[in-house]
This record gives sequence, structure tokens and C-alpha cells, in this order.
Amino acid sequence: MSLSSRHLLGLSGVPKEDIQLILDTATTFREVLERPIKKVPTLQGKTIVNLFFENSTRTRISFELAQKRLSADTVNFSTSTSSTKKGETFKDTVRNIEAMKVDMIVVRHESPGVPQFLTQISDANIINAGDGTHEHPTQALLDMYSIREKVGKLEGLKVCIVGDIGHGRVALSNIHGLKTMGAEVSLCGPSTMMPRAIEELGVKVYHKIDDAIENNDVLNVLRIQLERNAGASIPTTREYRTYFGLTSERLKKHNKDVLILHPGPINRGVEISSEVADGPYQVILNQVTNGVAVRMAVLYLLGTMH
Ligand code: CP
Repeated sequence: MSLSSRHLLGLSGVPKEDIQLILDTATTFREVLERPIKKVPTLQGKTIVNLFFENSTRTRISFELAQKRLSADTVNFSTSTSSTKKGETFKDTVRNIEAMKVDMIVVRHESPGVPQFLTQISDANIINAGDGTHEHPTQALLDMYSIREKVGKLEGLKVCIVGDIGHGRVALSNIHGLKTMGAEVSLCGPSTMMPRAIEELGVKVYHKIDDAIENNDVLNVLRIQLERNAGASIPTTREYRTYFGLTSERLKKHNKDVLILHPGPINRGVEISSEVADGPYQVILNQVTNGVAVRMAVLYLLGTMH
């Protein structure tokens, strides 16, 4: 069994069989993470570069750990210590890294489309670790893995993505992935944070969080992306919390068993209260653990196609 593409640029257009294969392969690697020695020789001899042009805690460390667990040689690039600071272009940077004979590139960049551009200037397998407001495919894969692990299925499940939809790449990848896997996907947030014509993707839109809680099995809560000027879309974060914040009072009111995800980083007390973020319904740190297994699966499946 192999994937239908040698790159992972997004989940738009990725067939169900590919997503299923990644999630099933991740289950095997999830078991490896529970062993005393969390390492397999699968990608021995492969060289992987992590190109991070934008800040990251979870994704960068998760990819690096996944690569080390698979015994790959791994190198990290960060803009702040690179020659891009001396004016070297993105294309020259990549060509120089490529000249060192790398097999795979994991890239995060603030501009949508950079992973796609990399496929044109590099022979390596390219994995998108988040490109601007476009896609974050491995985040959506680990979200789907975490839902499936907890609930046992994705087909027919009602999943609502709550929050700053317009500025978030996680929302788009989740919409594509979850719909492909047969889930019923909806969105909830202020209309100023909803991309125009988003319903054309086949999603329902709620403007009241109580309706979202009442009508869904899973809530994937996204943070307000203040670094992308999301503050201009709402009067204040306090008002956002009043109307869209997920609190235990709101959850209790509906008396309903709802699974809560958050990709992180969390703005505690804004989109989610600490009580909910640390409470019994959430799987936020499970998502982080599962992220390593899911990224191992993606690296393994792409790395053995080359
Ligand atoms: N979820 C996520 O992408 O987190 P980081 O920005 O810390 O990688």
C-alpha cells in the first residue's frame, strides 16, 4: 500500500484511501511510542530538513521527534540564524540545502503556496507544516486520529470547528479531511471571522456557540490568530470570550458528552477557559502525543516511495 502523491501539500483532493492509510499506519507507530526504546530503523540513511520560516513549538518538535524515532538524519533550519538575514532569497536558500543531498523537506512558511513552489525547485518529498492561512495537513490528520481514537469512527460524526476560521489553516485542512472521511462538518464563529462563501465547501455555519454545542459530537476550538491581525475582526477579546468562549458553564447547560480538541497554542480565558482546557472532555495533550505518530506515518509513507 502506498500514497497517491509523493508530497503532502494539503488535504484538499487527497483520497479517502490515503487518509485511511496514514491513520492506520499511525496506529502502528503510536504503539512504538509506548515502548521503552521508542525507535525503529525505518528511515535509516534518509536525510530530512525542517525549514521553519515561522514560529512553532508543537509541529517543529513533533516532526523532529518523529524523524529521530524513525532513525532519519535530521537538520533544523530557522530563519533567525540563517543567511536569509543577509539577504539570500528563499529559492537560493532551498537550492543550497538541496545541493547537500536531502531526501525530504518539511516546511512552514507565512505565505500560502510555498510548499507547492518547493515541489517545482526541489526533487525532495515536500511536507507542508503550515503555509499561511492555507493548510496545515498534519494537524488535521492528528485531529482526525485523535477523534477516531476516542470515538472509534469519523464517518457520520458531527464535528464543529469553532473560532477564528478565516485566519486559520487548521480549519481548512480539517474541513477537507473530515468531509473526505464522511464526517458532517460545521463551523462556528463571528461572521467577521468567516471566509466569504465558505458554505460552498459543504459546511453548515453556526453563529451561536450554544447551537454548536447542542448539535455536535466534537468541537475543535481554534485560537484567535492575533499575529494575523484577527483583533481587527472583533471588538475586544473579552467580547469574543462572552459570545464564543467555551466555558464549563456553557458545557454544563447542555448536559452533553462532547469531545473537545484544540490544536494549540491556547489563549486561555479567550476561546477556551482553563477549566475546559484541562477538564474531562478534552484530548488536547493526546493530540500532541498522537501528532508524533501521525507524522511518523507521513514521513514513513512518503520516505519509502522515493
Ligand atoms: N498546532 C500548531 O501548529 O502549533 P505550533 O504553531 O506550536 O506548531
